[in-house]
Amino acid sequence: MFTINLKNDTHFLCAAEDTILIGAQKENITIDYSCKTGRCQSCKAKVISGTSFANIDEIGLSEEEKSQGYILTCVRSPTSDLVLDIEDLSGYALEQVRTLPSKVDKITAISSDVIELQLRMPPNATFNYLSGQYVNIIKGDFKRSYSIANTSSAANLVFFIKNYKNGRFSNYIFNEAKINDLLRVEGPIGTFFYKKTNKKNIVFLATGTGIAPVKAILEQLDENNFDFLDKTIYLFFGGRNEEDLFWKPDFKNLKINFIAVLSRSNEHSTAEKGYVQDIVVSKKMDLSDTVIYACGSENMIKDSRELLVKNGLSEDAFYSDAFISS
Ligand code: FES
Repeated sequence: MFTINLKNDTHFLCAAEDTILIGAQKENITIDYSCKTGRCQSCKAKVISGTSFANIDEIGLSEEEKSQGYILTCVRSPTSDLVLDIEDLSGYALEQVRTLPSKVDKITAISSDVIELQLRMPPNATFNYLSGQYVNIIKGDFKRSYSIANTSSAANLVFFIKNYKNGRFSNYIFNEAKINDLLRVEGPIGTFFYKKTNKKNIVFLATGTGIAPVKAILEQLDENNFDFLDKTIYLFFGGRNEEDLFWKPDFKNLKINFIAVLSRSNEHSTAEKGYVQDIVVSKKMDLSDTVIYACGSENMIKDSRELLVKNGLSEDAFYSDAFISS
């Protein structure tokens, strides 16, 4: 057993055969994670001291990041005691992952390639989660991860399902699913949820159906609006064309600076042109006083993190949830 020390005076014991993430979970310590396959960077940690071994290639890290001492805790096992520059998130009251039955309650096409799926949970079951977390939706012998697109105060779970050409689950939703079909929901999973901050700017970046967890977090912020009166909140929502921007914030209380961004030029659109991360930089906000929540493709997450850190964002102020193709 090795001792893993974290930033906020927390430590836990981890067996040599466990990854650091699994070791933490066994000890009821929560550290950031999402994909658990070494790709999304959510579990990225800087090693202050100690050694560890990568069980599989950390493809989510660049050579530069590796040489700077960063590791991905979901694929690393300790080979000595370690001191890591990451926080214990156990104060956020995360629910245990469990599997519950659910029924298809509503299927609504919201663009030509996105469907809003609503699942109804059993009436006697409580399924609590933090806004921004995801679940695995299980149909028979296959499962697929989707972020929940609404807060847990609503009766149904809402998801945005994009139609992928060879996607088994999206093919089912687009062509076969019927009201009252039985599906199972495994979760809640991941640590992409709002974390308290002293920073002034709270910036959300989303592309395509990456808007789902961001919408859920914004709904939560709207419900607790008074806690955010001293913050400036931005949402940069990007897509290739207008149809990709299928959702718009419309909150009763929360004030949001909403910036639509299109990567393909469209002379009839009022959206900004380019990539979301470039548009953030063009706004010249003080990135040292900013936290970023980003959800979208692996490339968008990687490029955003790199560019924004280069422009003054603190490394530990970038939270992300990347789409990982299965
Ligand atoms: S890279 Fe570790 S959780 Fe995604």
